[in-house]
Amino acid sequence: MNSVYPLFSYPVMLCTEKYQFSAEEEKYIANLTMAENIGNSMSENDKILDSNELAKLRAFIDSQIDTYQKNILRLKAKNSIFITQSWANKANANEFHPMHKHPNSLLSGVLFVSGSTGDGLPPIRFHRNNDLLPLDLEFEDHNEFNTGVRWFVPEKGLLILFPSVLVHDVDRNTTGDERITLSFNTFVKGPLGKKAQLTEVDL
Ligand SMILES: [Fe+2]
Repeated sequence: MNSVYPLFSYPVMLCTEKYQFSAEEEKYIANLTMAENIGNSMSENDKILDSNELAKLRAFIDSQIDTYQKNILRLKAKNSIFITQSWANKANANEFHPMHKHPNSLLSGVLFVSGSTGDGLPPIRFHRNNDLLPLDLEFEDHNEFNTGVRWFVPEKGLLILFPSVLVHDVDRNTTGDERITLSFNTFVKGPLGKKAQLTEVDL
C-alpha cells in the first residue's frame, strides 16, 4: 500500500457531543434583537456568549476550543485561544449567507440552533482556496484530495470549529423553517515569536 499524505490540510472539527439546549437558552436566542445582514439577519449583540443566560453553552464551546488547540493544533500551553465576538444569525425563507471568511480571527465556530435530519435546511459549505490542479477536470467520485467544496448539514446542537481563513457560504433557505446558528471568532493570548528574531508580540 502506498502512503499518501494530505499535506497542509485544514482541520474542520465536528464535535461528537451535541449540545443540549435548555428551554431558557432557546428562549434567550429566540428573543435576541436582530439587525439586517447581507442575505440574512444577525443579532445586534455581538458578545452573546458573554451573557449569563448562555454561560453553560460558553463552557461547552470553551472546552471544545481547548480540545482543538491541544489535540489538533498541539499549541504549547503559553498560548491560549479565546472567544472574541459571538453572535446569532437567522435565515428565513429565501435568505442565505454569501461567501465569506472571518478576518482578525484564528478559529471560528458555528453551532446549529435549529436543524434535524431531512428537514432540508441548507448546509454550511466550505470552499477550496488552494487549487489542486489548474484544470477543469471531471472525477469519478470525490474525496478529500480532489473536492472543491465540502458541506455539513445543520443538526441542532452540532458545533463545527474551523480555521477562520476557510471560505464558506450557505445557499438560500428554500424551506419554511428558520435556520438559526450561533457563530463566534477567536484570537490568541500569550507571547508570540522571539525578541532576537524581531518577531516578538506579547498580548
Ligand atoms: Fe461565517
